[in-house]
Amino acid sequence: MRIPGPEPRADGGVGAITAAGGLHTYQLRLHAEYGPVVRFQLPGSETAVSVADPVLLEATAHIDKRPERLFEFLAPLCEAGNLQVLDAEEHTPWRRLLLSVLAGRPSHERHFARFTELTTALADRWAERGVHEPVALQKDLTALTLRMICRFALGGDVPDSDRVIAAFEDVLTEYLGRLYQAPVPGTPEERAVRADEALALLRATVDGVVAARGSGGRADTSDLIGALVEAGESPARIRDTVMVTLLAAHHTTGVAVSWTLYLLGQHPEVAERVADELDRVLGDRPAPDYADLRQLTRLDMALKESMRLYPPGPYGARETTEALVLGDYEIPAGATVFYPFWAVHMNPDHWPEPERFLPERFTPAEVAKRPKLAYVPFGIGPRGCEGAALAMVEAELVLAVLLKRFRFRPVPGHEVEPVERFVLWAADDIRMTLHPRGTEGEPTR
Ligand code: HEM
Repeated sequence: MRIPGPEPRADGGVGAITAAGGLHTYQLRLHAEYGPVVRFQLPGSETAVSVADPVLLEATAHIDKRPERLFEFLAPLCEAGNLQVLDAEEHTPWRRLLLSVLAGRPSHERHFARFTELTTALADRWAERGVHEPVALQKDLTALTLRMICRFALGGDVPDSDRVIAAFEDVLTEYLGRLYQAPVPGTPEERAVRADEALALLRATVDGVVAARGSGGRADTSDLIGALVEAGESPARIRDTVMVTLLAAHHTTGVAVSWTLYLLGQHPEVAERVADELDRVLGDRPAPDYADLRQLTRLDMALKESMRLYPPGPYGARETTEALVLGDYEIPAGATVFYPFWAVHMNPDHWPEPERFLPERFTPAEVAKRPKLAYVPFGIGPRGCEGAALAMVEAELVLAVLLKRFRFRPVPGHEVEPVERFVLWAADDIRMTLHPRGTEGEPTR
């Protein structure tokens, strides 16, 4: 059967995507109009098929190849081959190594105290501002999660971490700016020089950390560099892995927390229940211990529901290596299978009233009623996110510290518009006012 979709246009599909406000919103429209499987024009790909049905997605979950052209923008960050599109043979052992660190409880526990300190320092800075000066959540929280992942990836050995963080921001501003044609300061030449210098600094920093390990430094496999060194990875692959991990980890986790605080600000009754739970589990303590996290079920459900409504990574893609049968349709080898994670999360067959923020959708009983791939904020199969477990620990810790201490209120008249900037980003940030909990006139419940 012919896969439904809009008629091809001479511009290769660019006009329709732009008119819809971006690829993320285009997918929502396409699936609302044509159903769960849609053929569409995707610049850089001859045949693209988008799949928003969780059961049909199962039939694609084994695919272990990404379409190279769609991920070309990341190539300059890598010296030993673009990690996003490594072939399966090279990717599988690299993934296993990453998971041995990122998914492991020992590494989460080892970094937890430092993550808590960094979060508390941000909360202290926010507390000094007073209730009338709104905070820009996205800016501050992505800066926090960058600090966290730098610490995680590089260990505690970096002498000038502020410089490293600024360099990484320069690199990202330049490469993402090119991708999205976002306005950035400076001439193209000035920016290119700046990005090159920043990239060189980052690479030298990683080399410095590796050298310190080699000369009798700690052999600690609970941070990323330690594990890569221990596994005998090449210096270039170590540098690439650190770069890609920083990139994959910090905006995603930062926006996950920002969107959650935004939604809780819109739903004070849910926020109160989360705060009650924090009071019950933490008592007077300002921050959770690692072991407390699993008791914070309301907070966990609110975070999950927020990542359903605003998935930080709104889509992904694979390339078929052989013909694939998807329900009534056949997809040829060499086609792009597009994963519209946002549209999957808004599929009304599995998410009644999909626009509503209802954390109870994530009670174990409700989860059991849905197909496994109805909820895919971390992607699918052998190319799914290796950082999922770490991201949940980080996000829950940050939310717990902030929600124990503050109530978040929307700023009247401030428009929050999701746009796609590699992650699902709020165009003009998410500005909210903070109100200390438990002070006079602000009862804790
Ligand atoms: C809330 C936070 C995060 C979200 C929502 C998220 C989401 C995603 C998504 C959707 C993908 C693409 C998956 C696919 O194509 O199926 C991905 C890939 C990836 N993520 Fe995450 N991520 C998050 C945090 C992190 C963190 C903290 C790390 C590392 C510390 C990380 C490391 C990676 C890596 C390395 C990849 C590439 C996977 C590969 O090519 O094998 N992510 N992530």
